[in-house]
Amino acid sequence: MAEPLLAITDLNAWYGPAHVLQGVSLHVGRGEIVALIGRNGVGKTTTIRAAMGLVAKRTGTVRFDGAEIGPRPSHARFAAGLGYVPEERRIVPGLTVRENLRLGLLAAGAGAAEEGRAIDEMARRFPRLGERFEQEAITMSGGEQQMLAIARALLSRPKMILLDEPSEGIMPALVDEMADLFLDLRRGGTTLLLVEQNVELALEISDRAYVLDQGRVVHEGASGILLADPTIRDRYCGI
Ligand SMILES: Nc1ncnc2c1ncn2[C@@H]1O[C@H](COP(=O)(O)OP(=O)(O)OP(=O)(O)O)[C@@H](O)[C@H]1O
Ligand SMILES: [Mg+2]
Repeated sequence: MAEPLLAITDLNAWYGPAHVLQGVSLHVGRGEIVALIGRNGVGKTTTIRAAMGLVAKRTGTVRFDGAEIGPRPSHARFAAGLGYVPEERRIVPGLTVRENLRLGLLAAGAGAAEEGRAIDEMARRFPRLGERFEQEAITMSGGEQQMLAIARALLSRPKMILLDEPSEGIMPALVDEMADLFLDLRRGGTTLLLVEQNVELALEISDRAYVLDQGRVVHEGASGILLADPTIRDRYCGI
C-alpha cells in the first residue's frame, strides 16, 4: 500500500494537567477527503493543532509526505505543503480581501506575475470574493470570511489542508457552495482533513471518517457506512 500523505500515530496532548488526546492515530491518503467528527470538547481541534505543532505538550509521531514532521516548527509544516484553516479564521483586520489574499502568496514566496494570475484564479473560483476584493475583509459575512481563509490557504499551493469547522455559523447556501468547493478541490488533487460538527455534511462529502470521543478514536470507516448507522450519530455526535 502506498504511504499515506499524512499519518498521525499515537498522538497524546495535554493542556496543563489535562490529558486531552489519549493515543489518537489516523491517516489520510493522497487525494482523500477524511472527516474527523465528534461532540464538543472531545479533542478535534487539539488533534489538528497538535498535528500542526501548535500544542506545546504532546507526544506521538506525525509523518507528512514521507517525512517525520512531529518535531518541526509550524512554519516548516506550512513550507512542506501542509495548509491549515483554523476555527477562528484569522482574517487580518484593516486589510482588504485582496491584501489578505496576498498574505497567502507571500507565504508561498510568489513573484508579481504569478501573483496576478493566482489572484485572478481565486476571483474565478470564489466569485463572492472577486466582487469584494477592495472591501475590508473583516466587514464580510462569516461565510465569506471562511471562503477567504480557504482561498488564502489555497494560494500557498498546499498538498493538503486541515480545515477546522469550516461550516460553523454560516448560512446554508454557502455551506452547499463549500461542499462543492471541497469536492472540486479533491478532483484537482488536494487532500483534505475536515473537522466538522455538521456530521451530515462531513460524511456526505468525505471518503472515510474517524469518530473521536474523549480524546480517543472510537470508530473509523467508510463515510457512507457511518452515515447509514444512526447509533454513531446518536452516541458520539449529538451536541
Ligand atoms: N487552550 C486550552 N487550555 C486548556 N484546555 C483546553 C484548551 N483548548 C482546549 N481545551 C480543552 O481540551 C478539550 C478538547 O478541546 P478541543 O478544542 O480540542 O475540542 P473540540 O472537539 O475541537 O471541541 P469543539 O467541537 O467545541 O470545537 C476540551 O475539554 C477543552 O476544554
Ligand atoms: Mg474545535
